[in-house]
Amino acid sequence: MNVLLLGSGGREHAIAMKIAQSSKLNRLFVAPGNPGTAQFGQNAAMNILDFDEVETFINENAIDLLVVGPEEPLTKGITDHFAGKPVSVIGPSKKGAALEGSKDFAKYFMSKYGIPTAGYQSFTADQLLQGFACLETMTPPYVLKADGLAAGKGVIIVDNLSEAKSTLQEMLEGKFGDASKKVVIEEYLNGIEVSIFVLTDGKSYKILPEAKDYKQIGDNDTGLNTGGMGAVSPVPFANATFMSKVRERIIEPTIRGLQNENIDYKGFIFIGLMNCKGEPFVIEYNVRMGDPETEVVFPRLDADILDLFEGVANGNLETRQCSVSHKTAVTIVAVSGGYPESYSKGFEISGISSVSDNIVFHAGTSEKSGKILTSGGRVLTVTALADNLFEARKSAYKSMQNIEFEGVYFRKDIGLDLM
Ligand code: AMP
Ligand code: GLY
Repeated sequence: MNVLLLGSGGREHAIAMKIAQSSKLNRLFVAPGNPGTAQFGQNAAMNILDFDEVETFINENAIDLLVVGPEEPLTKGITDHFAGKPVSVIGPSKKGAALEGSKDFAKYFMSKYGIPTAGYQSFTADQLLQGFACLETMTPPYVLKADGLAAGKGVIIVDNLSEAKSTLQEMLEGKFGDASKKVVIEEYLNGIEVSIFVLTDGKSYKILPEAKDYKQIGDNDTGLNTGGMGAVSPVPFANATFMSKVRERIIEPTIRGLQNENIDYKGFIFIGLMNCKGEPFVIEYNVRMGDPETEVVFPRLDADILDLFEGVANGNLETRQCSVSHKTAVTIVAVSGGYPESYSKGFEISGISSVSDNIVFHAGTSEKSGKILTSGGRVLTVTALADNLFEARKSAYKSMQNIEFEGVYFRKDIGLDLM
């Protein structure tokens, strides 16, 4: 199989590594990729939101399978663009991608199919007063969500009513541009979060290893939200009892709902869940893998990923094996000093090649004259796989000691709460 993978983060580095291990691979291209993906395939410079440009590349390189890493090409309709053309796409149609692209649609979908989630109401700019009235009936904290994609910043949680009202007004007046023209106000869920990953061909599905993501910049979950500072898989509280509730109450109704809505869904469903005293509630759907969760989920997959993708493309996923390692994976994210606020880039990174027993996944890096430089907020992640969480943490942190660049920062407590 010739494969084109779209994206350039740690997630895509981890997906590229797994694809490169497949016996079904002929050639792998990653667009635009990063210095890490270049170890496993050929990077190709490309605007991945220009579907004609992607199509030209696919035709010129006889690509059989297009794997879409990030959400944006999906919400913009890349899968619909290739419908009926001789390439299979891993990623849902535009209608399916609205599960991530529109919080209002996701909430409507969950309420229609009886999927447990926080109660909600949606408001547009002309309904500001109704929005205020809704907030007045609620108890703090108040959860306000921009309907559309807002680079991971569209969820605001505030403790007092007057701040909630002013936040609602700012959002409806364009704080996040078109993304917050509609705002979802929802009940606050108290619990512990876990990320569930499902691969589906639209009829059957495989549950991939679950993960816990650490979103805040500071140790003990303090400070600003980030794209993710580390992840662990498996998650001890996602035990068989909990997962059977997730399967029956969430995954199966989701797949049935997609079918009922005539949504063509071949790809990943990433379900952000809150475990509220043992009961799962959906916080959000994403239509792609998570980052940095992929850096712990994919190293635990023993399955041949292209065999699974082939099952998705051919609609016979139920005939494929999805074997998973019992080991524990921990990933630690090294970020640029200042992130998630402003930071400088272009600093040389040393020590990557001295990490031999663990995996360094590149995220925001670039290569110049043989040197690896920082080029983003989340720079790289170090993943360790070991027999238990204690060993995996110890090993990942030991490897991280090798990594140096000006201003490097990482959390010291990834996985500590699960021990
Ligand atoms: P999202 O962008 O939807 O992942 O939301 C960002 C974060 O906000 C989530 O990871 C949760 O930590 C938090 N969050 C979102 N919705 C709720 C809710 N209803 N109750 C409590 N926390 C929430
Ligand atoms: N780590 C959370 C995400 O990928 O959305």
